[in-house]
Amino acid sequence: MLRFLTAGESHGPCLLAIVEGLPAGLLVDEEAIHSDLQRRQGGYGRSARMQIEQDRAEVLSGVWQGRTTGAPLALRIENRDWANWRDRDLPPLTVPRPGHADYAGMVKYGLDDARPVSERASARETAARVAAGAVAKLLLAEFGISVGSLVAEIGDVVAEIPALPPHELWALAEASDVRCPDEAAAERMREAIDAAREAGDSLGGVFVVIATGVPPGLGSYVHWERRLDARLAFAVMSIPAIKGVEIGPAFENARLPGTRVHDEFLTQTAQHAARITDHASRITDHASRIMDHVSRSTFHVPRSTNRAGGIEGGISNGQPIIVRAAMKPIPTTVTPLRSVDLRTGEPATTQYQRSDVCAVPAAAVVGEAMVAWVLADALLEKLGGDSLSEMKAHGTTRNL
Ligand SMILES: Cc1cc2nc3c(=O)[nH]c(=O)nc-3n(C[C@H](O)[C@H](O)[C@H](O)COP(=O)(O)O)c2cc1C
Repeated sequence: MLRFLTAGESHGPCLLAIVEGLPAGLLVDEEAIHSDLQRRQGGYGRSARMQIEQDRAEVLSGVWQGRTTGAPLALRIENRDWANWRDRDLPPLTVPRPGHADYAGMVKYGLDDARPVSERASARETAARVAAGAVAKLLLAEFGISVGSLVAEIGDVVAEIPALPPHELWALAEASDVRCPDEAAAERMREAIDAAREAGDSLGGVFVVIATGVPPGLGSYVHWERRLDARLAFAVMSIPAIKGVEIGPAFENARLPGTRVHDEFLTQTAQHAARITDHASRITDHASRIMDHVSRSTFHVPRSTNRAGGIEGGISNGQPIIVRAAMKPIPTTVTPLRSVDLRTGEPATTQYQRSDVCAVPAAAVVGEAMVAWVLADALLEKLGGDSLSEMKAHGTTRNL
């Protein structure tokens, strides 16, 4: 079993991740980890904090001559902002901020100050997840599996995703500071973020994580907790501010009859014909577009579309895996929200603290990490083995 634990506070000295269960022999490319950490730091609408931090993971254990040994990997990311906070004498935060963990955390842990709650509940922790996820991506890459993401919506701006294969969509998303492959929508997204900032408000949105090259057979229907869709939803929903997860265009599917949803099995010739028909009757909804385009790279028996998002019966079916996630608007707003001072019971309003206006592009990178993590775990479960070479040998005999 692959697992990781994180430790660290938003303004503490560092974040830590302990990654356990990796096979021996995996090349730990520190630049790949660094690159994902940089991708998480970016994005239009983020706070000035991201200019202070220069996230880089130091690999402290579990690696010998650049490769994993089978021992736990310890990763450390410095919080450069700690230097600005360690000597501050901060008054207790007794006015809980709506949308934050403040109130529920104070009640649960019997605290009369929300600061220790917000320090650990902060999404700064997701930097450690991205480092762990980057290692999972390295393992997946050994088996030809790639994970990428794009932003489909910010506030009320909905992108028209171009008709391109996933790798080309990712390249466009990568070049965009809102991670959106539709440049016209990207411009409107930036304007929406600027308008929210000027209004003292914040925005959420929707991102899509796509995994390609996933073989059929990961996950299982035989027990509830082994279902791949459930495991992905859990992992992505565990990201702060993610309040909805769907596999494929699930909510849209729910509004359509079965004959328009289920992905038919095709011979190669039928697939070619379906591609042409599909193209002619392209559905306008952006989610359907993503599903149609990514369905082109099929594994084994071709399918007409990929509205199932690559999973049937809790098992990967060889199609690209598509996970969509809804992020709520950032809870910290310059415009005060009504609250209560828990020390006095008197009405109060929230105090603004430096914050992102929109973090959907960054959350998409965290989404990639969580999806990669689940897929790496499921792959390890499928193939078994204590070393990468054992895993590969098992993959060959199992035709993966
Ligand atoms: C990448 C990322 C960055 C975030 N940045 C902020 C931020 O700057 N300010 C803020 O109030 N919330 C931010 N959030 C959201 C909060 O962490 C989150 O809403 C809060 O901890 C409460 O958790 P919940 O929304 O899951 O209930 C961010 C979330 C993510 C994923």
